[in-house]
Amino acid sequence: MTSIYDLKDKAALVTGAASGIGREIATQFHALGARLVLTDINGDGVRAVADSLGTGITTCRHDVASEEDWAAVFATVEREHGRLDILVNNAGIMMAKPFEKAGVDMLRRQFRINVESVYLGMQGALPLLKAAIEEGARTTSIVNIASIYGKVAGSEYAAYSATKGAVRALSKAVATEMATSGVRVNCVMPGPVATNLGADWEPPRDADGHLIPPDIALAAWAKMIPMGRLGETGDIAPLVAFLASDAAAFITGSEFIADGGYTAA
Ligand code: NAI
Repeated sequence: MTSIYDLKDKAALVTGAASGIGREIATQFHALGARLVLTDINGDGVRAVADSLGTGITTCRHDVASEEDWAAVFATVEREHGRLDILVNNAGIMMAKPFEKAGVDMLRRQFRINVESVYLGMQGALPLLKAAIEEGARTTSIVNIASIYGKVAGSEYAAYSATKGAVRALSKAVATEMATSGVRVNCVMPGPVATNLGADWEPPRDADGHLIPPDIALAAWAKMIPMGRLGETGDIAPLVAFLASDAAAFITGSEFIADGGYTAA
């Protein structure tokens, strides 16, 4: 792979790396030379991803909503690398339901996994990110994966949208507070990408309440996107890699949309 930037020897932690966008971020980081710690609540899945990439990659079973799990992950990073150059808060869930039927438990669950995780991850990572700066890194980088649904409405995704709006606000707040430290914080907002996200939740229904077959639902999504197609994980990961690298040394507190023109239309 040729690139205007690289992640050579940078220690990187990627959450939710067993599947979808996180898996592709891990793959591209590996190709760009990063030293990886990959985590996921699906411990076997993330180990399989690491094994498919090569040797020397550390993995952890990690529930991002658990403070104890975060502490164990950072202890692993400390032991393996003594520092952290890059944190990608990617793990997340999406639950959809008509607002009138969506109980507050749905909001709480998504806030724990999509927002508290980002808070805990950023806070816990700071000593290790600062340690990298003390050792000579030009900058260190946190990239939080939000969503265009933190910016525009997604019908039946009220709670999910609220979590992703919170990730945007949290990212900017921490970015400005840390701006002089060398730790950068940015947000990536993907549009619809065909992954496993939401697959274990309610399938989409038409106006009459009938289940819509997945291929038809996906084709309908694609028609709403000016580029005429859904995103692929490879459309998102290079943006994350760029923000993680020193090529983005002057970029913090910013938000980047990759959505095929969806929010521009
Ligand atoms: P995915 O479902 O393919 O991957 C998510 C990964 O997170 C899975 O490996 C899953 O096991 C892991 N995970 C779930 N709960 C966890 C927990 N409590 N602790 C640790 N790991 C956990 O989904 P995808 O699409 O790759 O999602 C990645 C991120 O991208 C999420 O934050 C999602 O909200 C965001 N996103 C996805 C979009 C899409 O259309 N696929 C669009 C916009 C944002």
